[in-house]
Amino acid sequence: MMPHDSFDVLIIGSGAAGLSLALQLPKGYRCAVLSKAHISAGSTFWAQGGMAAVLHDRDSITAHVDDTLNAGAGLCHRPAVEFCVSQSRSVVDWLITQGVEFDYRSDQPDDEFREFHLTMEGGHSHRRIIHAADRTGRAISDVLTHNAAAADNISLLPDCYAVDLIRSDDRCVGAYVLDSQTNTVRTLAARAVVLATGGASKAYLYTSNPDGASGDGIAIAWRAGCRIANMEFNQFHPTCLYHPEAKSFLITEALRGEGAKLLLPDGEPFMTRFDARGELAPRDIVARAIDHEMKRLGLDCVYLDISHRDADFLRSHFPTIFDRCLSLGIDISKDRIPVVPAAHYTCGGVVVDQHSASDLPGLYVVGETACTGLHGANRMASNSLLECFVYAASAARHIAASDHPPPTDLTPWDDSRVRVSDEGVIIPYHWQALRRLMWDYVGIVRSDRRLEFAANAIDLMREEIATYYGQFRITRPLLELRNLAEVAALTVRCALARKESRGLHFNRDYPETEEFAVNSILIPYNPPTCNQVGLEGQQLPDYPANLSD
Ligand code: FAD
Ligand code: SIN
Repeated sequence: MMPHDSFDVLIIGSGAAGLSLALQLPKGYRCAVLSKAHISAGSTFWAQGGMAAVLHDRDSITAHVDDTLNAGAGLCHRPAVEFCVSQSRSVVDWLITQGVEFDYRSDQPDDEFREFHLTMEGGHSHRRIIHAADRTGRAISDVLTHNAAAADNISLLPDCYAVDLIRSDDRCVGAYVLDSQTNTVRTLAARAVVLATGGASKAYLYTSNPDGASGDGIAIAWRAGCRIANMEFNQFHPTCLYHPEAKSFLITEALRGEGAKLLLPDGEPFMTRFDARGELAPRDIVARAIDHEMKRLGLDCVYLDISHRDADFLRSHFPTIFDRCLSLGIDISKDRIPVVPAAHYTCGGVVVDQHSASDLPGLYVVGETACTGLHGANRMASNSLLECFVYAASAARHIAASDHPPPTDLTPWDDSRVRVSDEGVIIPYHWQALRRLMWDYVGIVRSDRRLEFAANAIDLMREEIATYYGQFRITRPLLELRNLAEVAALTVRCALARKESRGLHFNRDYPETEEFAVNSILIPYNPPTCNQVGLEGQQLPDYPANLSD
């Protein structure tokens, strides 16, 4: 890559959203796909359960739409739900043509009538999760990475960290990118830029996500003038492995789909005390029930029991979990699995329309970074991968049909007034403090007092980080901390504005749900002068957006 390079499309992020978008652009488009670490560093690689799709005769688009709307607690944007669900079959067909191998019910490859093996997860009224054992994300990521690497028009650029977008005449025209191999900042120009940087669950101390989930795209888009919505809806996955040696290891919901029970230490099942659907209630309900029981009894964890299934079944359907647990001395065909909830998914994000276009012309946002309206106040299990593929395809079509002007000469990055830091301790300190604060004060159960305390503490941190950013050369840890603090502030701001409990947001000062559901939409101080796209809702202006600039 040259210090200044120019592409037709610059895609920031190499997960399901970024790679599938690149592969669906016309072959004449020269595009770059960036990852701040290695190419499969995002959450996609770790997806276990699979992707929701209407594939069985007895299932229907209407049922999948209704289940999604129910899980979303009144806040889903119905057109987005219908758009997404109606394309699930074609997404599966596209993935298969790319070479992804899903599991079938029969193991006869020449049986042309064989059916997909579909699993069940919380909130779904049918078995509709297509999967590749419990390593669906890896199966998808490997195939898409291989195909992108083989495509002449796609450059895969690992270790390239997007710092900020470049905006000119109310358009997005490129991005500044820190090349970690040379430690220099490149100026990359493009006719269209795509943010596909995944979610922000790393804002919490305990998370199922890989290290890079620091909400970069959300913070970057906010600084560039895009509206951000519904950041209070952080999804906590009910069952992450609780073990001192297991960092961020998920125990898929599909286990509960196969009858696994949640138990207290004395063996008592408790879920039906909270919801008639028991272990298969939507995630917000299950995570809150576990949190309630852990706090009531002072527990470190609860237990998941799948020991009614034999070892052969478990080893063939859940090989990753079986092996990982066994390596830690837990035989899941006999032993109960210690589990805790952990931050898992960011339902809010950058407001986009059905083409994944953001408020800023030339900027598209796809995957977990975006807020399309599909998930509302609570994402239903396995709808995320589906959303990545549907909206990436839509963005590719829109980019191909749009006449985005060629990129112009851009002002290069200027680091002549900063020096190498001699105050590095500030970064790990704030990194720890911020994530602990978010866990304790902006977690599964909230109150106004805790949220206000968090808002003040985060503002102080942001000031200190901004001062540091203004004085020292940028590094990946500094950029991640700066973005994490930005998304934490946006999250608390949305949470404070919501005077009710809904879906994933539970505030004990307002335990009731209002009759009418509204989105929380944050408006930056520097929006572009074009029309705003996407969601309608409660507009929350006057936020001091650029403390750090
Ligand atoms: P990611 O796959 O997270 O990719 C983000 C990319 O952006 C990475 O390449 C990263 O390096 C890059 N990046 C980030 N910031 C920058 C920057 N500043 N500059 C350059 N590059 C950057 N969903 C389902 O539907 N089904 C499941 O079974 C499922 N299981 C899951 C299991 C786990 C353990 C986890 C963590 C999530 C799971 N999810 C599941 C959620 C789903 O995997 C994610 O929401 C989805 O994969 C996100 O894809 P993405 O393309 O938006 O982002
Ligand atoms: C899981 O396998 O439990 C995760 C599914 C998801 O996050 O959608």
